[in-house]
Amino acid sequence: MAEDTLTITDNRTNQTYAIPIEKGTIRAMDLRQIKTGPKDFGLMTYDPAFMNTASCRSKITFIDGERGILRYRGYPIEVLAEHCSFLEVAFLILFGDLPTETELEKWVNQITHHTMLHETTRKFMEGFRYNAHPMAMLVTTVAALSTVYPEARAIDDPSNRMLQIKRLIGKMPSIAAMSYRHSLGFPYVYPDNDLNYSENFMNMLFKMVEPKYVANPVLASALDVLFILHADHEQNCSANVMRSVGSAQTDPYLTTAAAAAALSGPLHGGANEEVLKMIDEIGSAENVPAYIKGSKEGHSKLMGFGHRVYKNYDPRAKIIKRTAEQVFEVTGRNPKLEIALELERIALEDDYFIKRKLYPNVDFYSGIIYQAMGFKPEMFTVLFAIPRTVGWLAQWQEMLIDSEQKIARPRQVYTGHDVREFMPIEKRTASW
Ligand code: SDX
Repeated sequence: MAEDTLTITDNRTNQTYAIPIEKGTIRAMDLRQIKTGPKDFGLMTYDPAFMNTASCRSKITFIDGERGILRYRGYPIEVLAEHCSFLEVAFLILFGDLPTETELEKWVNQITHHTMLHETTRKFMEGFRYNAHPMAMLVTTVAALSTVYPEARAIDDPSNRMLQIKRLIGKMPSIAAMSYRHSLGFPYVYPDNDLNYSENFMNMLFKMVEPKYVANPVLASALDVLFILHADHEQNCSANVMRSVGSAQTDPYLTTAAAAAALSGPLHGGANEEVLKMIDEIGSAENVPAYIKGSKEGHSKLMGFGHRVYKNYDPRAKIIKRTAEQVFEVTGRNPKLEIALELERIALEDDYFIKRKLYPNVDFYSGIIYQAMGFKPEMFTVLFAIPRTVGWLAQWQEMLIDSEQKIARPRQVYTGHDVREFMPIEKRTASW
């Protein structure tokens, strides 16, 4: 018997089956042959929240959760954060290799010339309430771009796909900055093509009446590193949404809006905003032990801690922690860092967190940096969505060109009523 098979004996029938093992998986469809008789549908797998189910094959991002390893297209995140710009990494994630100097120059130029938004989009955003959450504004406005570029529906045309990909990467910072300015009641700032991706984003966020905005190079560089760290993370919740919605051949704007909606959840990308709320609730380092006690009793979660895949320190959190020191040299030390450091110190020594392998994740320190840079907590997930758009689009495109993929439609285990006789309304009893 070939060693790369699984022999399954169905004790209900004493039948045995040899199921091929490929890259550490078995195909769920190979289980359907396991039946108790000709009318039996056959076995399925049952895996709520996909705890142990691979939905696709991907070449984009590799994570080793036990060893705290993260690589984009084979390059360790630490090396990319040290040596590359965000758009350079975006090119790597989308095209599979680091760009040559000429390719990078052309790529940056193309993205730079897609930062403008159609005036109807600006007018559309003016309709939001003064206190609308920037993430809700971003999700809605990205979806609205579908009305500006109806040709985006041609998802099978590679050049059309690439045009929409460039538009989305170029326009995300513009939409993000407009949602920020809207929430402050400030006029929108148009893109400045003389600036690089992160500097231009800061320009659209922070320029006031000066003739030309000059970004602090340390802060712009820190933002670029943060964008690199957030660019992709294999089959996380929002990437799964991008693939699932995209599998129905929905246009990339509506698909990206759906992924951004998933990211806004407090258990996912919304956690960085929740971390700051948690730290504000704790108030001081002295109060940390009491808060941790409450978390262990199930009254609250340590936001920014834990991860479905990392059962070791999130490598991104380590880099963010180092980046924080560079930012604080410019902005002054965020006093909330002391509470975060005490929270981490105590949690990493506590058996409850050690046993559950709960370590700081990417969201634990990022909000503290963003706040020091002048962002309100409501903007933190928007800052996550900008770079993650690259990862979502790479996952979306990889799904579209994967011949094994088709419209996503999971099965279910039905636990409801068997067939029932119709009950005329006069005979029904109240169920509330
Ligand atoms: C991101 O998937 C990705 O890659 C996401 C992301 C990306 O780049 O796309 O990395 C970005 O979303 C990071 C995660 C941000 N979320 C948070 O920081 C929210 C707090 N963390 C948790 O909600 C939780 O850790 C999750 C959602 C991140 C992971 O949840 P899992 O894998 O479903 O784990 P679980 O909820 O089943 O927890 C296992 C145990 C439970 O205790 P027991 O039932 O075994 O007693 O650990 C406990 C949980 O109660 N636990 C926590 C905890 N996280 C898990 N207890 C206290 N505080 C926490 N933060």
